[in-house]
Amino acid sequence: MNAGAAALQTLDLAPGRGPFLSDVLDGLSHPQKRLAAKYFYDTRGSEIFEEITELEEYYPTRTEIGILEARATSIAALAGPGVVLIEPGAGATRKVRILLDALEAPAAFMPADISGEHLVAAAGQLALDYPHIPIIPVIADYTRGFDLPLPAGAETAKRVVFFPGSTIGNFDRSEAAVFLRRMADLVGSGGGVIVGADLKKDPAVLVAAYDDAKGVTAAFNKNLLVRMNAELAADFDLDAFRHRAIWNEAKGRIEMHLESLRAQDVTIDGRRFAFDVGETIHTENSHKFTIAEFQAMAKTSGLSPRAAWTDPRERFSVHYLEAI
Ligand code: AVI
Repeated sequence: MNAGAAALQTLDLAPGRGPFLSDVLDGLSHPQKRLAAKYFYDTRGSEIFEEITELEEYYPTRTEIGILEARATSIAALAGPGVVLIEPGAGATRKVRILLDALEAPAAFMPADISGEHLVAAAGQLALDYPHIPIIPVIADYTRGFDLPLPAGAETAKRVVFFPGSTIGNFDRSEAAVFLRRMADLVGSGGGVIVGADLKKDPAVLVAAYDDAKGVTAAFNKNLLVRMNAELAADFDLDAFRHRAIWNEAKGRIEMHLESLRAQDVTIDGRRFAFDVGETIHTENSHKFTIAEFQAMAKTSGLSPRAAWTDPRERFSVHYLEAI
């Protein structure tokens, strides 16, 4: 840990050990077997995800960064001076640095994540690089909503949430609306919510982004099997499953699945699960939006759309929403 990290005040609002085992046993007991996408992100999964963001086919990360860089001044103007910037699920800091560079005298930056170690390390580096901005990491499960004690002196500052990466797309549409409502409540009337949302486009482009030629996304998906073997005494044969990425037109989403290549039984923590050939575990949804769809959802969540920016190819969108 570096000096900046050691000096940081950290708010630990995390619950106890995650219910990985019970979620797996429950998820694999449904007719359509499923696992929650949040379990992708152990240390190895987070590393593979970083690799995904560099892939030729995976356009969202670099496209969103391009939009943020091109529109930083407009975003900062809408946010205004002296805001407390809050990033739920903060991961890599490259995007928020664009905002921290552009915002006028932010009162504080509060990155929040369930994974404390990574969060505190990233926040420590930011504290070194932005010594004039109080950086306050908050260890919390942001998907459940959390209360935020604001730093002394900034209790009345305007709050602005930053939720980039189209992570909103990994929620079901109703969950996304609930999440946006929570963010509206968190920032309060007049507060801002800056969200990145991936746009609907040619399904071939979408499928390639989630089934890359190098097999990095396949490794990301299969890491769930690796995790269950290592942490839950499971005996998945990694070669007996394959990665699938499917565009579901009706639901407007890319679905990731792990498909069983043969009829087989798998044991997890002493319980047996039967797989037919071709049967899948549904591991992730990544919803895509039109600008109008996204803004309509925001409105139902108490957020008024103030601006939406896209890249020249209209692949990705960044929205500034204001809590009513
Ligand atoms: C984190 N999330 C927004 C990514 C996405 O695009 O849905 C996760 C991902 N899954 C496969 N590739 C990337």
